[in-house]
Amino acid sequence: MDALEQLAQYEADATAAIEAAGDAAALEQVRIEFLGKKQGRLKDLQALLGTVPVDQKPVLGKRFNEVKDKVTGILDTKKAGLERPAVAVDGIDVTLPGTPFRYGHRHPISQTIDEFKSIMSRLGFDPVDGPEVEDEFHNFEALNIPSDHPARDPLDNFYLATARSGAGSPLLLRSQTSTVQIRVMEKTQPPIRIVSLGRVYRPDDMDDTHSCMFHQMEGLMVDTNVTMADLKTVLRLFVTAYLGQDVEIRFRPSFFPFTEPSVEVDMRWGDRWLEIGGAGMVDPNVLTAVGYDPEKYTGFAFGLGVERFAMRRYGVRDIRLFYENDVRFLRQF
Ligand code: DAH
Repeated sequence: MDALEQLAQYEADATAAIEAAGDAAALEQVRIEFLGKKQGRLKDLQALLGTVPVDQKPVLGKRFNEVKDKVTGILDTKKAGLERPAVAVDGIDVTLPGTPFRYGHRHPISQTIDEFKSIMSRLGFDPVDGPEVEDEFHNFEALNIPSDHPARDPLDNFYLATARSGAGSPLLLRSQTSTVQIRVMEKTQPPIRIVSLGRVYRPDDMDDTHSCMFHQMEGLMVDTNVTMADLKTVLRLFVTAYLGQDVEIRFRPSFFPFTEPSVEVDMRWGDRWLEIGGAGMVDPNVLTAVGYDPEKYTGFAFGLGVERFAMRRYGVRDIRLFYENDVRFLRQF
């Protein structure tokens, strides 16, 4: 047998002996025989290598190291296996590694809402909640939307067929979070600084940017000497806190029954402007409806679409992904 064959033989013998070792003591005997530092088969092989012609040494030396590493590895693995006590419960080895659990987490929209609340509370706005089932007074009337206004069309709202308010007027799923402005002002005197985040419902056709249920953040600030400049400052601070300093927003003159003057707010997305909500100075009629003196107090209000911001932040191009709850999508947040 030449030296290469002897190495192969050594490897085969060692592997078989390691496999056959039934306990730690037997394995230790195998280790001494095959890997012992002072004497043993590895030592013999090393001595043999000393005698081969110089030109064969590099090849044989390399092979020697490979075989030695391999046998050492097999022995270590076997040793770890023998050291692990076999604890069987009902025939199951409970010391075997288990299947790891994947941690769940909050839905991306809930995470976004939490972050919005945190940014706005740093700006001094307290979060408040309002009901999703509303009466016409809070969803329309008090917001200066009279009964002949097209926004009240039954085809544009989810009216409830089976429930009515205590006073007998129809109830609907709120179409906007502006309802909460009224609920807060009814109960509180200025100064007021609140945000309200939650679901709103509209029978819109679903597409990549529309859904019949989505989320809004409503903001309201009422005090003496509140101006449009305060509104623009707060919105800019909010948008840059959430999306970064480089995001561009613009204000377009618009109309809402409950604000005067009114603006629509857009942000740039690539080469397109995406509407993110409406805002304005609270209409004196609204202040009067809740019993405030419009000569003394002024305020601003805004309503922003939560999903639009999350879509922009995460590069989500289709709003419906948020509601399908495909874990492959959700896992990424
Ligand atoms: N409620 C409006 C909507 O859903 C958004 C809005 C516009 C809210 C102007 C406001 C506001 O508070 O002042 O389209």
